[in-house]
Amino acid sequence: MSTLLHIDASPLGEASISRHLSALFVQKWQQAHPDDKVITRDLTTSEIQPVDGIWVGAAYTPEESRTAAQKEALALSDTLIAELETADEYVFGTPMHNFGIPSTAKLWIDQIVRVGRTFSYSESGPVGRLMGKKATFLIASGGVYSKGTPMAPYDFVEPYLRAVFGFLGVDKTDFIVAGGAAAVMSGKVDRATFLKPFDETIEARFKQT
Ligand SMILES: Cc1cc2nc3c(=O)[nH]c(=O)nc-3n(C[C@H](O)[C@H](O)[C@H](O)COP(=O)(O)O)c2cc1C
Repeated sequence: MSTLLHIDASPLGEASISRHLSALFVQKWQQAHPDDKVITRDLTTSEIQPVDGIWVGAAYTPEESRTAAQKEALALSDTLIAELETADEYVFGTPMHNFGIPSTAKLWIDQIVRVGRTFSYSESGPVGRLMGKKATFLIASGGVYSKGTPMAPYDFVEPYLRAVFGFLGVDKTDFIVAGGAAAVMSGKVDRATFLKPFDETIEARFKQT
């Protein structure tokens, strides 16, 4: 039995491009894994607090020495990390907001990048502990930031997610970027026409396997 963790970060609900793509991915994954499990984590409704001093102190305190308040401070982080550990595969739909990921997604990352849990220090430096997991990132942006374009240096979404998940040991990553969604917003391109090549890219991923 395998488990897929489905994460979404767009606040736009039904209108969201990244949510459409991640939903399609989940639908295809379920067709390919009819008996397997999907965990859903919606970052817009998860009410994740910023890490504070108690959280940081707790993370660096050995588990057996933590006070009740420290355990409480790490409770949500424990839940979010357990989802990552349980799942074999992740699909993460996210918009670009102001050249980076939405703040809700950053709050989640701050909770899941945790010493002794998702990474450890070794003599040769930090080692990620989510090894063997596969992650697909479905990114939507108003503009186009692909390699070689004038806006490419402004993309802090794909390089950031690649760095964070690589740091955590997730080495099998796939990025599908729906750039140019502003044309849908302005009515220059209809939504179905815009989505078609990205839908086809997702469908092709499942035909390969
Ligand atoms: C608050 C906010 C900030 C945005 N910032 C950017 C940006 O920096 N660059 C860009 O290309 N598009 C930006 N956009 C446009 C979105 O990336 C685009 O609408 C995309 O489709 C959002 O993904 P979603 O439809 O899944 O929410 C922004 C949109 C919002 C609402």
